[in-house]
Amino acid sequence: MKQYYLTTAIDYVNGSPHLGHAYEKVLTDVIARFRRQMGDKVHFLTGTDEHGQKVQASARKRGITPQQLADEVSAEFQSLLPKLNISNDDFIRTTEPRHKAVVREILQQLYDKGEIYLAEYKGFYSTRQEQFLQEKDRNPDGSWPELFGEVTEITESNYFFKLRQYQDWLVDFLTKNPDWIFPRFRQTQVLEFLKEPLNDLCISRPRERLEWGIPLPFDEKFVTYVWFDALVNYYSAVRQQPDVWREAHHVIGKDILVPPHAVYWPIMLQAAGLALPRQLIVHGWWMQRGAKMSKSTGNALNPLDLVAEFGADAFRYFLIREMNVGQDSDFTREQFLVRYNSELANNLGNLVNRTLNMTTRFAGGMVPAAGPDQDLERSLRALWDKTRDEFIPLCEGFQFHTALERAMVFLTETNAYIEKRAPWKLGKSPAAADQELLRTALATMAEALRLAVALIQHVTPATTPKINAVLGYTPGTVWRDELNWGAKLTGAKVAEALVLFPRPAPPAAAATPAKK
Ligand code: ME8
Ligand code: MG
Repeated sequence: MKQYYLTTAIDYVNGSPHLGHAYEKVLTDVIARFRRQMGDKVHFLTGTDEHGQKVQASARKRGITPQQLADEVSAEFQSLLPKLNISNDDFIRTTEPRHKAVVREILQQLYDKGEIYLAEYKGFYSTRQEQFLQEKDRNPDGSWPELFGEVTEITESNYFFKLRQYQDWLVDFLTKNPDWIFPRFRQTQVLEFLKEPLNDLCISRPRERLEWGIPLPFDEKFVTYVWFDALVNYYSAVRQQPDVWREAHHVIGKDILVPPHAVYWPIMLQAAGLALPRQLIVHGWWMQRGAKMSKSTGNALNPLDLVAEFGADAFRYFLIREMNVGQDSDFTREQFLVRYNSELANNLGNLVNRTLNMTTRFAGGMVPAAGPDQDLERSLRALWDKTRDEFIPLCEGFQFHTALERAMVFLTETNAYIEKRAPWKLGKSPAAADQELLRTALATMAEALRLAVALIQHVTPATTPKINAVLGYTPGTVWRDELNWGAKLTGAKVAEALVLFPRPAPPAAAATPAKK
């Protein structure tokens, strides 16, 4: 079995989860479930990033300890996971001893190797962004941009990690591994960034300024600064499993690619003599009216509202169907409703209803054996083979939105097949040929439905088993074997009905006013 280690970014605990965070979990889960179906041994990690200035400051404002705040918000992120049907194997918190120990171990090792040094630093500092600023960060008129908040000039000693000496190595590595970052154009952006000389990375904050962090093992007057702490989570969670670590794939948003994941992280690992991740999978942003959804702009949607209204699978389906991994996408309720109604309720929901109804009405609720294929069956089967053969490579290449589109085309064609066969007419004819065709039609629609929901089960992990259950079907353990058109349902006893994807209640604002 091939090992496949998959991680999400770990979320800051300075705000509640929003749709962007939910998307990243869903996307990673879809990859995890797909790889498991393909026979890989998947280890799926997610978690929370809990140290830093902002957490310390928000906790102080609320009169609680940073640990209390982190406990509260981390619990909120954790409780989201089962509600989204996320199949993670582990959840890491950067405040856990298992993480802190590994961060300190790596820091000590790099310090002993001479990769970390102490230097005096003088510069302008933004507390809001927790970063030192450079001259090039100023506005043309010399003032500091709004986003930095209050900027003060400070002199302090800090520890630095020798990033610069690895610049040529990194450029060489990226050039030799053009698929290290998905999508490819992001790798080009990293190489572009590396055309400028790198500065060594400041990795500490004096404890009098930042108490809420992991103390440096070689100088306890300092804590390590956010990225050195956060990035190590991927490794600390599997510290005892080197073969898992070697197969790491990190799913992240585009805002944390350059420089943290594409520059700091590979250099940190190389300097520590550890294997590099296999791949970075970089998604874009969910936007609202052209602006990134985020906690600071206040335009973020609560994913749980949508899940409560439409169910986890409809929510997952929409996110994966709508977003081309790597691009940005605008979220609108209108677009959500269009896909929900036309693709889930009408296309899939309708096929389920027709299959159950007609099998009940015309065959006493038992899927009959099909007669020999006619032209209509032959062409639906040919479409199935093509759909399946294209679907798998599309998913392997993270083109899930196109894969789902193909699955929808197959469902549309199956519904069209039913229209053409018109079992309701065949049912009225006593002719033996028509009765045989009726059995063929019933068997064909049930089999097409079984196949389609097997195909998309990594996106709809709750709905697919529900449909299998009403079809009286228990799938086998090898997913690929489930995708062959056969007679698996012959003799299965189906249920009479299943309510899937009900019409949403009209929004309150649109309700008709009471008559006077
Ligand atoms: O960056 N659309 O945490 P975070 C899509 N703790 N994805 C979005 C998004 C949006 N509108 N907004 C945020 C951090 N994300 C660090 C990571 S990893 C070692 C440390 C994604 O809570 C974002 O791109 O700000 C990131 O991948 C994840 O949510 C967590 O963001
Ligand atoms: Mg962020």
